[in-house]
Amino acid sequence: MPVEFETVEVTTDVLIIGGGMAGCGAAVEAVHWAKKHGLKLTLVDKAALDRSGAVAMGLSAINQYLGLCNGENTVEDYVEYVKNDLMGISRDDLVYNIARHVDSSVHLFEEWGLPIWKVDEKGENLDGATAKKKGLTFKNGAKPVRSGRWQIMLNGESYKVIVAEAAKNALGPENIYEHVFVVEPILDGDRIAGAVGFSKRENKIYVFRAKAVLAAMGGAVGVFRPRSVGEGLGRSWYPPFSTGSSAYFTIKAGAEMTCQEIRFIPIRFKDAYGPVGAWFLLFGAKATNALGENYMETRAAELDNWGPYGKVKPMPANLRNYLGMLDLEEGKGPIFMHTPEAIAKLAEKYKDDKKAFKKKMKHLESEAWEDFLDMSISQAFLWAACNIMPEEKKSEIAPAEPYFIGSHSGASGAWVSGPEDVAPDEYKWGYPNMTTVKGLFAAGDASGASAHKFSSGSHAEGRIAAKAMVKYCVDNPELPNIDPSKVEELKEKILKPLKTFEENKDFTTAEEVNPNYIMPKQYMFRLQKIMDEYAGGVSAGFKTNKALLEKGIEYLTMLKEDSEKLAARNLHELMRCWENIHRTMQAEAHVRAVLFREETRWPGYYFRTDTPKMDEENWHCFVNCKYDAEKDEWEFFKKPVIRLLS
Ligand code: FAD
Ligand code: ADX
Repeated sequence: MPVEFETVEVTTDVLIIGGGMAGCGAAVEAVHWAKKHGLKLTLVDKAALDRSGAVAMGLSAINQYLGLCNGENTVEDYVEYVKNDLMGISRDDLVYNIARHVDSSVHLFEEWGLPIWKVDEKGENLDGATAKKKGLTFKNGAKPVRSGRWQIMLNGESYKVIVAEAAKNALGPENIYEHVFVVEPILDGDRIAGAVGFSKRENKIYVFRAKAVLAAMGGAVGVFRPRSVGEGLGRSWYPPFSTGSSAYFTIKAGAEMTCQEIRFIPIRFKDAYGPVGAWFLLFGAKATNALGENYMETRAAELDNWGPYGKVKPMPANLRNYLGMLDLEEGKGPIFMHTPEAIAKLAEKYKDDKKAFKKKMKHLESEAWEDFLDMSISQAFLWAACNIMPEEKKSEIAPAEPYFIGSHSGASGAWVSGPEDVAPDEYKWGYPNMTTVKGLFAAGDASGASAHKFSSGSHAEGRIAAKAMVKYCVDNPELPNIDPSKVEELKEKILKPLKTFEENKDFTTAEEVNPNYIMPKQYMFRLQKIMDEYAGGVSAGFKTNKALLEKGIEYLTMLKEDSEKLAARNLHELMRCWENIHRTMQAEAHVRAVLFREETRWPGYYFRTDTPKMDEENWHCFVNCKYDAEKDEWEFFKKPVIRLLS
């Protein structure tokens, strides 16, 4: 692998890093506002926008649609729901801002061609294409098919392709850099100045210089050891594309971060991670332990231990998890999702009409398969491989390994400024969605304390941030300076794993075994082992304590030392090296935050056995942190939770 690299310099006004849901939302909105000011917009992604990010495989539900124009819900209801689901720790102002805008993103998706299910005049569910043929669109006032209070169904195999197409059309191909992995932020004093990355396909280093930068590089997978190892390695609920780059970028830039202790553990169909939402909400399925006991009923008394949040409806996701985990801990697994029962119940009313019954059963079977084929194809494969017909055989479900995803039921991310009209003064210091670093914005998984945005809310939040970024550029027209010596230093640092490999590879006959370097996969296994065993991963039953966390920090510190010895044989492995360094930053922020919060607030996500109770008096607050890159020092502190609604 030659180590001669060309440096490509790109100067722009607005830089969007990450072309996922938030990045694509930002692109369409920024173009609208930037036009009249003649601003240049640039988007960079490590992958190809059509199939990048968490929506790459497609989705079968949009989990946040309020239906404001039909009076289905209010923004206030959503704020209340998110607060309860996060056991009280939520920024109402941010959730409010997204909730009031999210429907317009969904309406745009439909205009761009996304088929969304609708209810017809007889109350029957129509798939997206049939509904469209009948003129049942949002524009014409049609109602969506709801799987839950907030979730709507779609034929979403091409969801990401459609959303990306709109973003690409808006920006123009000359302003989009695909297959460029962004590694580091560049600063000019207390202001963001751009970012540095490298191409995964050519020997090129990219230096982006920008007035305003959006971090929208998704969440993090592969920080904890996954359940699937060996033959199943790489399989996880969270698609493998996002590896903590948002967290790394914002932390490294010196931005204040929040909720780093809040990870998400989804309950999923075991081994292929098929989502459960449609089964619980749309099909009305029940889950039980091996003895046929419904843990939601048999464990109901446990809910009294979790304050007001144990009594809210729907039950917070972590408490739903926890009740099932208690059964698993007692050896009462597996937990089964009773798909045959659910399908039979839905078809029951057609029982007396043989033909209608057969038709209904066929329809339900195809809905069941399509739910997975639209968004979790490997689950459909696994069903086929295990001879599972959902109408005949129940399926195992299980808690997955922990992920960091500020847009779903987790909340980790950057601490961002709230909307001007509703945010309290303590939450407002500049432009909406700007981090505490001037000119650096965050949205989607990258911004914290505003969970349950999902795909639609992340798109809406990207749009909110983009509008603010354009205003920031208009108010701050001077370009930041980039120190050329700093760029040279970063270049050398980024390419070091290639050099390390070249210099040492002939020392042994097996390239992957060498005393002078560590391959990215080996490094990843070590990180995942530390997190799994010390920070409450799957094998530790999601439990940890002070002593374990402190030991974990000790081992993470040694791992960080060894990151200097990462080696890469090619550009792909170079990306793998940097993905792991990014993951390590997320890991460290998490372990330190869990250590700082001396209580257990989210059983089902993690349990601190030395502080096993929720402590409303001392810990009804955000845990925020800042990292000093010069000194390699962390600072953790509390921030108040201020309710927007009484
Ligand atoms: P993403 O959409 O993940 O985009 C991140 C982007 O950053 C990607 O394009 C990636 O390639 C890029 N990137 C990452 N690192 C770098 C780097 N270093 N340099 C450059 N680019 C980089 N929502 C729903 O509404 N309904 C659902 O049914 C649903 N199901 C889900 C299932 C799964 C498995 C997951 C993980 C999420 C699901 N969600 C669902 C939530 C939804 O997908 C996310 O909320 C949304 O995608 C978050 O948007 P984002 O832009 O922050 O991240
Ligand atoms: S997905 O994002 O991968 O599709 P999932 O299918 O679990 O996640 O959930 C989709 C939505 O349904 C989320 O809003 C989730 O909180 C909600 N949900 C899932 N299961 C339940 C349940 N048993 N009760 C209430 N809401 C649920």
